[in-house]
Amino acid sequence: MYTQLQQRDSDRPTVTLNTLGQMKQRAEKIACMTAYDASFAALLDAAGVDVVLVGDSLGMVIQGHDTTVPVTMDHMVYHSAAVARGLHRPFLIADMPFMSYPSREVALTNAVRLMQEGGARMVKLEGGQAQAQIVEFLASHDIAVCAHLGLKPQSVHKTGGFRVQGRDDQAAQRMLDDALALEAAGADLVLLECIPAALGRGISQELKVPAIGIGAGPDTDGQILVLYDILDITAGRKPRFVRNFMPGSDSPQTAVAHYVEAVKSGEYPAPEHCF
Ligand code: KIV
Repeated sequence: MYTQLQQRDSDRPTVTLNTLGQMKQRAEKIACMTAYDASFAALLDAAGVDVVLVGDSLGMVIQGHDTTVPVTMDHMVYHSAAVARGLHRPFLIADMPFMSYPSREVALTNAVRLMQEGGARMVKLEGGQAQAQIVEFLASHDIAVCAHLGLKPQSVHKTGGFRVQGRDDQAAQRMLDDALALEAAGADLVLLECIPAALGRGISQELKVPAIGIGAGPDTDGQILVLYDILDITAGRKPRFVRNFMPGSDSPQTAVAHYVEAVKSGEYPAPEHCF
């Protein structure tokens, strides 16, 4: 019954949650990257990226806003569907945008939209233990969930800006507790943004599920960056963890392939990219 799915491009099997779990077991780094359209999605696939995230960072890099807050569900569904059409092998995650998960029921309706209309295999939401019930509800409906901890861009107006999180012992312990509570609630992946490298290592070691870092040091199970940052398209000052992969690359696809190699070999992130 499912043979056409199994036979399709069987020399390049699609990445699943099982694949990601096995990569963590084997200590093989997971190379992740954001994308917002079909052309770049196909390029990331060809360059060997394992996981593609349709991030609500599109509010900044595509729409030109200062934050991710103005991004709506319709925007996310539109971009996720475009990316899904360009992908074959990578695992596709789409962000739940600001205020799309204020209650369990609304979260479920919106997660279903990202999967059915947007082609996502997993949804990502920002939050700690306060979101555990939402994660549990989505997981109980067999929806794969990534929990985003550390710097949470949807909260910048409340927290006062884009800053490194978890610097003191209390905040670090709270973040570890949050990660474990979200895993217990059913999160299948955790994303750690902008935290000290030692905390990134500690949380990744404690979790059974893979932890993907952005500015979280070299010892998370994988790395993610915003595509336009590594291609040096983003204007202005870039965060410390960003590396421009264009020098030494003759095309955007080569730059992404160099990023994948650097993540897999552990060459990226280097100490200068860490907190
Ligand atoms: O929206 C986004 O692009 C993200 C980053 C952490 C990659 O969530």
